[in-house]
Amino acid sequence: MIRSRILSAGGYLPAEVVTNDELAARHGLDTSDAWIRERSGIRQRHFAAPGETASSMGAAAAREALTRAGIGAEEVDAIIVATSTPDSSFPATAVRIQAALGITRGFAFDLLAACTGFIYALAVADSLLRAGSARTALVIGTETYSRIMDWSDRSTCVLFGDGAGAVVLRAEEGEAGILSCHLHADGRYADILHVEGGPGSTGTAGLLRMAGPEVFKHAVNKLSAVVEEALSAHGLGPQDVSWLVPHQANLRIIRGMGRKLGLPEERVLVTVDRHANTSAASIPLAMAEAMAEGRFRPGDLLLMEAIGGGLTWGACLARW
Ligand code: ACO
Repeated sequence: MIRSRILSAGGYLPAEVVTNDELAARHGLDTSDAWIRERSGIRQRHFAAPGETASSMGAAAAREALTRAGIGAEEVDAIIVATSTPDSSFPATAVRIQAALGITRGFAFDLLAACTGFIYALAVADSLLRAGSARTALVIGTETYSRIMDWSDRSTCVLFGDGAGAVVLRAEEGEAGILSCHLHADGRYADILHVEGGPGSTGTAGLLRMAGPEVFKHAVNKLSAVVEEALSAHGLGPQDVSWLVPHQANLRIIRGMGRKLGLPEERVLVTVDRHANTSAASIPLAMAEAMAEGRFRPGDLLLMEAIGGGLTWGACLARW
């Protein structure tokens, strides 16, 4: 059977690290390090420098992923970028990354599903690879949420950071690779987590608005349901999962899911404490970190899950 095998992951984090106290002082926020840690688990985040964009960071993450896979850029024939903070409305961030990597063949496009973007992009790439439309794909999540923050909204602006992550997928015969992806959306909840306006309505980039507690309730229920859906599609149970690779929005949600699956804490990848919520970049960034530490072993079962603006949510199961 042909599967989309995950050959490697790479990441990029901008150099500037901002702690909770520094963020509060910089924007005159009525908050505290203790509140942010207790409610979200976040200690610090990285912010892009003025010249850095979703494409420059995405290209850096892709380079690391390609190097780790031992693959030359010329072998890539599909690039899918998940981002809600593209360099520009068009062309796609993906083609800017394609050019930065010196790739002149294949196809490249962006996809938007907010924090679920990487799961959606992985699902689309998997379908294209198994259909024979491409052989080697880069799937990238890259975000500059610092550019869409309302710095006067303390309930939201403390939660996000910038960064990029990438994986290299290859269509290969065998047991390793993506087993299945399970995608959902319900646009009735568009307004509880959205960017106000944008180039197509107001003419300028808008700011992020989130009804945090409402999103929190959806996250707990919808993530549990989609994880159950993914596992039962293969007759698998929580005991079969080697690694939970969750979207990094809130440590309380992540730990809750880990407990529900009965996984020991060391089997749940956590970066939210250091990266904050990097939206579509958070899952591939966590994978890149785990790969650098040599955590994944052949045959390991990875369970990825995310929820974000849309609302959108989904899960993917993959055999390393
Ligand atoms: N510092 C201090 N106090 C604050 C802050 C702050 N930064 N922000 C809010 N508060 C206050 C509130 O005003 C409120 O005060 P009140 O009780 O006097 O009214 C109190 O703290 C509690 O606020 P809540 O919003 O109820 O806090 P909660 O425990 O729900 O935590 C949080 C908020 C962290 C946002 C949480 O709801 C959450 O993580 N939600 C889910 C986020 C998520 O998963 N998003 C999906 C992905 S994002 C994407 O797709 C782009």
